[in-house]
Amino acid sequence: MATQTQHAIVFGIANKRSIAWGVTRKLHAAGIKLTLAYQGERFERALGKLLASEGIEDALLVPCDVTEEGATEAVFDRHMEHWGALRHVVHSVAFARREELEGNFTDTSREGYSLAHEISAYSLIPMARAAKKCMGEEGGSMIAMSYLAAQRVVPNYNVMGSAKAALEHAVRQLAFELGPQGIRVNAISAGPLQTVSARGVSGFADIYSAYAEKTPLRRNITQEEVANASVFLLSDEASGITGQVLYVDSGFSIMASL
Ligand SMILES: NC(=O)c1ccc[n+]([C@@H]2O[C@H](COP(=O)([O-])OP(=O)(O)OC[C@H]3O[C@@H](n4cnc5c(N)ncnc54)[C@H](O)[C@@H]3O)[C@@H](O)[C@H]2O)c1
Repeated sequence: MATQTQHAIVFGIANKRSIAWGVTRKLHAAGIKLTLAYQGERFERALGKLLASEGIEDALLVPCDVTEEGATEAVFDRHMEHWGALRHVVHSVAFARREELEGNFTDTSREGYSLAHEISAYSLIPMARAAKKCMGEEGGSMIAMSYLAAQRVVPNYNVMGSAKAALEHAVRQLAFELGPQGIRVNAISAGPLQTVSARGVSGFADIYSAYAEKTPLRRNITQEEVANASVFLLSDEASGITGQVLYVDSGFSIMASL
């Protein structure tokens, strides 16, 4: 991917199933130097073990709860002190309370709505602000992870659908604003993968099996397929692409019904 050493910040590894972990492995394999921002102490040991299992020895690890004032900016500061340059940012962070991911959307609480949007959508904005400063005239690229519920009704996704719609809008708005500086911003809309976040959605198992039976490819996607598409969008191979949502979903989104 890179002809000279490039640097990336990845937000959102919780465990080996995390989409962000798949992307991290691919970036490392492409020779990219990494800063990994993890949610907090609870995740640190697991992350250390994962890195050891993959032979990634030189990643900079920085705790970051995106709801904490200044925490996101601190990751970029630490990254620049350590590595001195930044080319790529991966946003793979989302959260909604379990009770907001079942039942009626009309029951969404004010707090639950705010929290889901703060963590899953707003968090991209301070990342973009910091990336703009760090990337300078060289430009770079950012990606965020979305889901079809941003565009269509998926029962139980409720407030996460609203947050993903806000995230996809932010991707377009940021692509417009950062484009003149050569910074591209895109999203991947992934099909279901069995991660901690996904298992929080009521009825997820039914969605997962429907994809295997009824999508054009008649199977679920893999973590590696999302990672491959992510590395493509981040790389210069995608130099003319910005503000887009790329579906990695076995073709589910082209269907009128299943
Ligand atoms: N798994 C799927 O089916 C699927 C499909 C489409 C999109 N996505 C999206 O992919 C992204 C990654 O999710 P995943 O499926 O890999 O699950 P995951 O649970 O492995 O990753 C979610 C990450 O968000 C982090 N996070 C949550 N709250 C945070 C906070 N306050 N501060 C910092 N980090 C916080 C968690 O620590 C975790 O690392 C999410 O945006 C998710 O919505 C997932």
